[in-house]
Amino acid sequence: MTDSEKTLKLTVNGKEVESAPGEMLIAAAEKAGVLIPRFCYHPRLEPVGVCRMCLVEVKGPRGFTLQPACYISVADGMEVVTDSDKAKKAQDGVLEFLLANHPLDCPVCDKGGECPLQDQTLTFGPGESRFVEEKRHFEKPIAISKLVYLDRERCIQCDRCTRFAADIAGEALIDFEGRGGSLHITTFPDKPFASYFSGNTAQICPVGALTTTPYRFKARPWDLEQVESTCVSCAVGCQMVVQSSENEIVRYLGIDSEAVNQSWLCDKGRFGFESVSSAERIASPYLNGASGMVETGWSQALDAIAKTLKSAEADSVAVIGGSHMANEDVYTWVKFAKGIIGTDSVDAQLDDGLDPKVVALSDRATIQEATQAKLLILLTGDLREELPILFLRIRSAAKKMGLKILEISQSESSLTGDAAVSLRYFPGHAEDLVDGVLGAEIDPGLYSGDLQAARALVSSVDPGSVVVVGGRENLAGSSLDPERAIAKLLDTLAGAKFLSGLRRGNVNGAIDLGMVPGFVPGRVRLESASDSLKA
Ligand code: SF4
Ligand code: SF4
Ligand code: FES
Repeated sequence: MTDSEKTLKLTVNGKEVESAPGEMLIAAAEKAGVLIPRFCYHPRLEPVGVCRMCLVEVKGPRGFTLQPACYISVADGMEVVTDSDKAKKAQDGVLEFLLANHPLDCPVCDKGGECPLQDQTLTFGPGESRFVEEKRHFEKPIAISKLVYLDRERCIQCDRCTRFAADIAGEALIDFEGRGGSLHITTFPDKPFASYFSGNTAQICPVGALTTTPYRFKARPWDLEQVESTCVSCAVGCQMVVQSSENEIVRYLGIDSEAVNQSWLCDKGRFGFESVSSAERIASPYLNGASGMVETGWSQALDAIAKTLKSAEADSVAVIGGSHMANEDVYTWVKFAKGIIGTDSVDAQLDDGLDPKVVALSDRATIQEATQAKLLILLTGDLREELPILFLRIRSAAKKMGLKILEISQSESSLTGDAAVSLRYFPGHAEDLVDGVLGAEIDPGLYSGDLQAARALVSSVDPGSVVVVGGRENLAGSSLDPERAIAKLLDTLAGAKFLSGLRRGNVNGAIDLGMVPGFVPGRVRLESASDSLKA
């Protein structure tokens, strides 16, 4: 049994709790149903233990002492008390201290109603404050970017936004300035908080110090209706909650899906909801007649489509679309195109994709498998631009889990700094460079970078533990070169898996369901499909 498989036993408030080595006390207690109050603790961030809200009594050689539950990991036989008078007095004191400078402008704060400071003050805090002095004041709110407002008076200095920016996004564009009573959050002079991931800081801020422009004063939390959904702004498919008020979408929030986005959303996905109710959106069908495009009703439009389709030869009809749709919708669309109309001229990738054979017939990796691979070969576009949360996952795996990356690209990308080896090929020579990486002699004029190091890296791992992230680096060039390069890597490295770098929302689902020429649903070749599948 390895250390990580061991089960540790501790007691929390007299109740026996099982935990794994390395788990933080606050998380172990929560699993056992004991909620320890917290502000700075976030399960996806490194612990810092700065707010002291989670002080509990832990028994040590000198008896019970107060310790921050978010900053100590569990130990076998540990005895913990979270609800003693001493622990309660400490939690009470921390809250009184935090509220000393808090403006308590809850009625006009977007966080009001879903605010951990409100909730924990009610549950764990003092009934009244002894603080009668003047609170500190700052100019507020300050637009630190087009999407995020900062209200310094509300900040409780929990260090969540700063840790997210520096450790997760890798862009320390928001930080603390000053010390003691003048410590405050700031951005750098003349530098807006221009991160692709800025909205996450507002989602994890435990108070209303960081709020987002599109949601500002739009709704109160108790008025919101919500459903869980999947972002379709790119192919990552981040899990999120869609919240609406008065029949209008007002906010997306990330859900902690271990397999996909681990609670984060990129700003493109998070703020894309404004397009749903945009006045510029085409909301009704148009008929192209003698007098040009004329708005019409759905029945008339569908009648016109049916009439045209009935009079057309199947081979003369092409059907496009499929990405951005749910799998069930794509399946219906494919059945309609291939089974009812009878055409195989379909396309879900809209000249933005790869040969469907590479995508459909490869042994596919999940995001989780890609981050746990022994070697990740990147032969795709800049992931921060194209598939932002996949970029975060891979960056985090490289930083924290030692994921080795071999980058093969035309230009530097946001992951170049995290790659063990990074090679550049000249346009049209991806396949040549892959040949070189796999051992062939190639013209040194076709690439730059340390080819020997790349070869050594590839031969140092079992090919079956390699994942290739493959896509098109840019749309100006032909897809043939990257397709051949990806196919060569997958053919040569026996057992290597493929993670598609295609961009469009659920384009991989559309390919799996046959919205590409030559396939029917289930990644089955058209020629080998049974008649029932085709029909
Ligand atoms: S702005 Fe919010 S997240 Fe950042 S330190 Fe202040 S309270 Fe914490
Ligand atoms: S990474 Fe893609 S799926 Fe995830 S939030 Fe951003 S746009 Fe949406
Ligand atoms: S939650 Fe433990 S110190 Fe902040």
